[in-house]
Amino acid sequence: MQQLNNKHILLGVTGGIAAYKSAELIRRLKEQGAEVQVVMTAAAQEFITPLTLQALSGNPVHTSLLDPEAEAAMGHIALARWADLVLVAPATADFMARLATGQANDLLTTLCLATNAPIAIAPAMNQAMWRDAATQQNLSTLIAQQVAIFGPGDGEQACGDVGPGRMIEPNHIAELAAQQFASGSLDGVKLVITAGPTIEAIDPVRFISNHSSGKMGFALAQAAIDAGASVTLIAGPVHLATPERCQRINVQSAEQMLQAVNEQLAHCDIFIGCAAVADYRPATVAEQKIKKNDDSMTISLVRNPDIISAVAQHQPRPFCVGFAAETENLLAHAQQKLARKNLDMIIANDVANSAIGFNSDNNAATLITQHGQQLLALASKTQLARAAIVHIAQHFKQANC
Ligand code: PMT
Repeated sequence: MQQLNNKHILLGVTGGIAAYKSAELIRRLKEQGAEVQVVMTAAAQEFITPLTLQALSGNPVHTSLLDPEAEAAMGHIALARWADLVLVAPATADFMARLATGQANDLLTTLCLATNAPIAIAPAMNQAMWRDAATQQNLSTLIAQQVAIFGPGDGEQACGDVGPGRMIEPNHIAELAAQQFASGSLDGVKLVITAGPTIEAIDPVRFISNHSSGKMGFALAQAAIDAGASVTLIAGPVHLATPERCQRINVQSAEQMLQAVNEQLAHCDIFIGCAAVADYRPATVAEQKIKKNDDSMTISLVRNPDIISAVAQHQPRPFCVGFAAETENLLAHAQQKLARKNLDMIIANDVANSAIGFNSDNNAATLITQHGQQLLALASKTQLARAAIVHIAQHFKQANC
């Protein structure tokens, strides 16, 4: 089975003797269906040529932060956004130190800072360097920062020493990379998500609604399915294909959405309210099309039920994640909604910016809990959803242990 099908792997190669194994690793990743872009540090190029890795990956190799030609083809920020996983193999002691201290003094470290994708490293170094207190301290820092550590292996080393520090074999690295996606972080979890707009009828042909396309909610549903959750997607009227292995319930109005949500709450572990629910609906719906007899008309509106607040009061109560769509004072308003609606997490997005938010392919957001904030930098909704699901799974687990 190709476990990395359509996955974008940004392979960082740093300067160690194990760099020659990167050639083999690219083959293994591609066999699993991944598309691979390679970034090499200056030292890595002393061990293996960019041309070799270019031939194997089928893509130009990126070597410099300040290369106008490379930037014109795919700039470093675009590359950081492209990645579904940043995999650094081999990762030297020097690279680990620079990553642990948040440096951005070459292309690879800059990409690691700029990406929303998970980062994994396969350390490779002399056994004494691996055991050194400074490297172990850097290792602890990286683990705390959720960097996945692949290996190292134990055994005979190129320098003649024996001990820990060998890079694990490419086959094994590719397997571990695949596990980052089929991580099963939501295995056995039932997740209910709302997406898209609601429409509130004025008469048989007119309604009140908003610009939500459903893209963000559908991307979250897909990311949750990929993480192992069983997902029910309650969607307002949108023109999107249903993700595979997803139960979809179509609704029109906020009241219908509330009813559908209530029917799904019995065994719900996580609820995500991504729908742009109309806050108000017409007090009455005309039975016939309203005629334009007057120069002006007034529509009297009444408040719709607040769906996510109702979910947060339900017993048993699922882990509740809301979205805050704001055009001003983004974080302050989102914090207020987190508290007022009694949520576990709120994802704040700026919908005043037409490049993100409603009906765009990209989004940027800040994920807020009572304990802190996490920036999800500008990325495609698919990638932002994957990053959000990683955080939601972590917080859900913490809340349940
Ligand atoms: O669908 P896309 O085009 O991809 O756009 C994505 C999005 C911008 C719609 C999405 O990212 C987003 O921000 N969704 C929430 C929109 C919204 O209604 O935000 P709000 O700040 O008004 O509501 C706060 C929370 O309360 C939301 O979780 C909302 O689902 C929920 N709510 C709101 C009103 C209501 N009556 N019931 C609710 O449950």
